[in-house]
Amino acid sequence: MNKGGTRKVFVTRKIPEPGLDRLRIACDVDINPSDRALTKEEIISGIKGKDGLLCLLTDPIDQEVITSEPRLKMIATYAVGYDNIDVTAATKHGIPVSNTPGVLTETTAELAWALLFSVARRIVEGDSYTRAGHFRGWAPQLMLGQDVAYKTLGIIGAGRIGTAFALKSKGFNMTVLYTDEQRNETIEHELGAKKVSLAELLKTSDYVSIHAPLIPTTHHLIREQELRMMKPTAILINTARGPIIDESALIRALKKHWIFGAGLDVYENEPTIPDELKTLPNVVLQPHTGSGTIETRTKMALMAAENLIVGLQGKRPPNCINTEVFQK
Ligand code: DGY
Repeated sequence: MNKGGTRKVFVTRKIPEPGLDRLRIACDVDINPSDRALTKEEIISGIKGKDGLLCLLTDPIDQEVITSEPRLKMIATYAVGYDNIDVTAATKHGIPVSNTPGVLTETTAELAWALLFSVARRIVEGDSYTRAGHFRGWAPQLMLGQDVAYKTLGIIGAGRIGTAFALKSKGFNMTVLYTDEQRNETIEHELGAKKVSLAELLKTSDYVSIHAPLIPTTHHLIREQELRMMKPTAILINTARGPIIDESALIRALKKHWIFGAGLDVYENEPTIPDELKTLPNVVLQPHTGSGTIETRTKMALMAAENLIVGLQGKRPPNCINTEVFQK
């Protein structure tokens, strides 16, 4: 604490103003002045003398960062995914870590559907074609896509976002399959969804959408072997984390038409995207904006700020990931 008793916090990049305003009421706030992701060294320098850290999914918060400032008491990330944070190291040092679950569920599920339709009906390709002046009138075989209604939807990871995504299929009368460690009674009851093995899901689904977290068991869950199981008419959507798919295998699958197409919001080595992927017409690429609406990003900012403030008061933040810190 400084002499006024105010907690000092570092925010690694400007987030929506309502969140910063909330933080400023309770804390002395230092914000990265440049609108770019910081390097690890810059983050270490930014948290010097700080009690709290508000970080982003682009920030590498590893053991070195966590232990670089002995005053550090709380880490709040402005994201639901936290694969960029060494939570084990934070727990070992008694530092609570929080995320922003719930508020971005519908928004991310909506983006997955937007990608699904964009690929199925070749919306981006059609837009470029039309703008380029190639449209010479209706034609029987012009830019044909895939139907969505009555098809089979396969969901990899039926947590909050996977569930919201599945429920939105109701209007399209789809058969819904899912993989998850646990049974999902909501989608089983609401949609008649069936829990199956990954192989069965990949072989049977017309649309496969990934909603699993990036953990060691989901890294490269979809490789060449899995892509080859999919139907040549199938479409793969990923709004979760890039490294869940082996990107070079996906490029081969798209080039050789093992599958019809893909819609990606996330990449294996963000922000780098292989040039080859960018040349393919059967993939729609989005710049990791799953939660990117004005309303949702504002809610995420307020949630991250609230978590940080509560954690700095020595209390359990509402969205604490490592609750065991408070059980010691
Ligand atoms: C998250 O919060 O993890 C999302 O990827 C942000 O879009």
